[in-house]
Order: sequence, then C-alpha cells, then structure tokens
Amino acid sequence: MDVTTNQISVEKTKNTKINDVDFNNLSFGSIYMDHMLVCDYKNGAWEAPKVVPYQPISLDPSAKIFHYGQSIFEGMKAYKDEQDTIWMFRPLDNHKRLNLSAKRLAIPEIPENYFMEGLKALLKTDSDWIPQSPGSSLYIRPFIFATGLGFHASPADEYKFVICGAPSGSYFSGEVKVLIEETYSRSANGGVGFAKAGGNYAGQFYPTKLAQDKGYQQVIWTDDNTHEYIEEAGAMNVFVRINDTLLTCPTSDRILDGITRKSILKIAEDEGIKTEVRKIKVQELVDAAKDGSLKEMFGAGTAAVISPIAGFGFRDNDYMLPTNLENSYATLLKDRITSIQYNKAEDKFGWRFKV
Ligand code: PLP
Ligand code: COI
Repeated sequence: MDVTTNQISVEKTKNTKINDVDFNNLSFGSIYMDHMLVCDYKNGAWEAPKVVPYQPISLDPSAKIFHYGQSIFEGMKAYKDEQDTIWMFRPLDNHKRLNLSAKRLAIPEIPENYFMEGLKALLKTDSDWIPQSPGSSLYIRPFIFATGLGFHASPADEYKFVICGAPSGSYFSGEVKVLIEETYSRSANGGVGFAKAGGNYAGQFYPTKLAQDKGYQQVIWTDDNTHEYIEEAGAMNVFVRINDTLLTCPTSDRILDGITRKSILKIAEDEGIKTEVRKIKVQELVDAAKDGSLKEMFGAGTAAVISPIAGFGFRDNDYMLPTNLENSYATLLKDRITSIQYNKAEDKFGWRFKV
C-alpha cells in the first residue's frame, strides 16, 4: 500500500515547547521537537504511519529490544533556507541504508514510500522547529526497534518505526583529538559494523570513555584482525591529507558507508583534489606526522559535518597536526557541502531534496 503525505493522520500537540527553545544557542540532539512519526509492524505488515505529539513509548518488559537488542537507526538533517524552504540531503540514501541495517538485524524493511511520506508529513507539521541560525539544522533520527515479546532468542514479530527530531548545533563543542585504538574493536568481518545498529554504539562507549579519560574525544578504530589499519571514528568516517592527496579507507562490512564520506569524495574530485581510497596504515600516519607530510585529518558525518582533527594519540605518543593551515581541505570541503545542504550553491550532483 502506498500513502501520500496528506493521507498521514496528524494529531497536533496542545502544549508546544517551542517557546522554551533558544534557537541561537543550540547544542546537539538534546531538545526534541513537538511531534514524532510512529508506524507499527504487526501481523506481517507495516501499518499506516501517523504523526503524534512527542511522548514516551510504553513497552512490555519482555519486548525483544530489551533482551536481544534488535534496534537500528539513521541520522539525517533538514535545513531551512532564507526563503523558508525546507531541504534535505540525499534522504533516499538514508532510507536504503536503514533497510540494509534492517536486513542484517532480521528486522522487516520499511517501504520507501512510508519513510519518505512520513518524513515529509512530520517536517511539515514541525517546520517551525527547523533552525535558520548559522551552522544549525534539524537533526532527524529515524529508528526501528523490536516491540514483539518473548525470551526465545529469535526475531520479534512486532516492531515500531519512529522518527523524531532535535534542532541542533555542532556535534563537538571544542577541539577534537582522537586516540588510535589497538586493544578493542568496533566490528569484525561478517559482523554488523556496516549497519547502524544501536549495539555498535553501545560497544564503543567503554573504550571511548577510557580514551576520554586520557583527554581524547573520539576513538579511531583499527581493523580487528591486525590493528594496523585505521577504519573509522565512533561517529564519523575519517579522511587524511598527506601532502596534497586526500585519503580515506575503503568501506567494508566492518565500516559504515557514510553518505557524507561519499559526497566529500565526489566534491574533492570536482575540486581537482587528488583522492585515494585505500587502506591506511597507522604507521604511515605516524611517519607522515613525523616528517610533516601529514597536513590534515578530519571526520565526516551527518552529525559531525566535517570536523577537523587536531591530533592523534598512538601508543602513549601524541601527534599534533599543523594549525592555521592555508587552503585547508577541511574548510574548503565543508564550505562546499554545507552550501549545497543549505541551498546556497548550485546542486550539480542532484543531492538536494525539497520537502
Ligand atoms: N561512521 C559512523 C560509525 C557513524 O555513526 C556515522 C554517522 O552516521 C558515520 C560514519 C557517517 O555517516 P553519514 O555521513 O552517513 O552520516
Ligand atoms: C550521525 O552522524 O547521524 C550519526 O548517526 C552519528 C551519531 C552517533 C550521532
């Protein structure tokens, strides 16, 4: 069954919280807009999505989400331009990736039409929640989790798909230093690393806390087999500039195939920047930091946008990167991608989506 935006029922809140929000001073993902989209999977099918007031979800203690962690999510953003038009960035790619995650976690896939029309109905209802202040946007969190009951270790028979949103500023509040991790692994061959499964993040919290206690903000994960190659950071893919070449490692079943990452590669090529997608040895980074050819590192992701990395720690040594670099790739690429996202530049790759 297909739905159109107008067919999605909307129950409006009587208690808007919008007047309590300081839109010029937003942190990341900590205030939630008035409404959410909900859609239940029962009797082998997704029911019609509906927009309802943002509210707690009541669950039975035997719901399988609590026991077996069947839970996946996406991260997207909506932007409002000076004419009050709402834009999204490659949302169909998020839908595709949500379904890739769903398949791997034995969760029923959500039809594209439900996802896109539900998203549009929600954004139209809460359009006042999309900030216009510079650097801000509405961070959108679609997620699906198992509501079906049972202690039997098997997929649930019922699920809930929800989309909620939070007007947000920067993900990182200050300098980002990363620790290259050699003991713990984020993911393994044949595992769920490529999926946006909630458990992938839970598994990172303890090693990340250890790194934070040492003064780093994020961990850069290395391959679980040899720990010799960098893979990605906790919430973003990683780019490295050695001399004038921009490098990032190939995606695999251990790494999230970031939408920002692939967009940045395309924009860099368009700018005439030499790019290489290849495995990157930790030792290569250490050597390049020592001889000065390591010019930049940055993370790329929806929440992180492009976040410059100030330096990295590896085996009790810190390697700091040049500051105030002229013609920084991170600055150029961030400017190009955000100009497309905020409808300030030509969308030559057809990525912008008008809501
Ligand atoms: N890697 C991880 C582990 C992430 O959580 C994210 C964020 O979604 C990314 C990479 C970047 O992906 P995207 O650019 O699609 O947001
Ligand atoms: C995103 O960038 O959308 C993410 O999902 C990262 C998240 C851990 C904040």
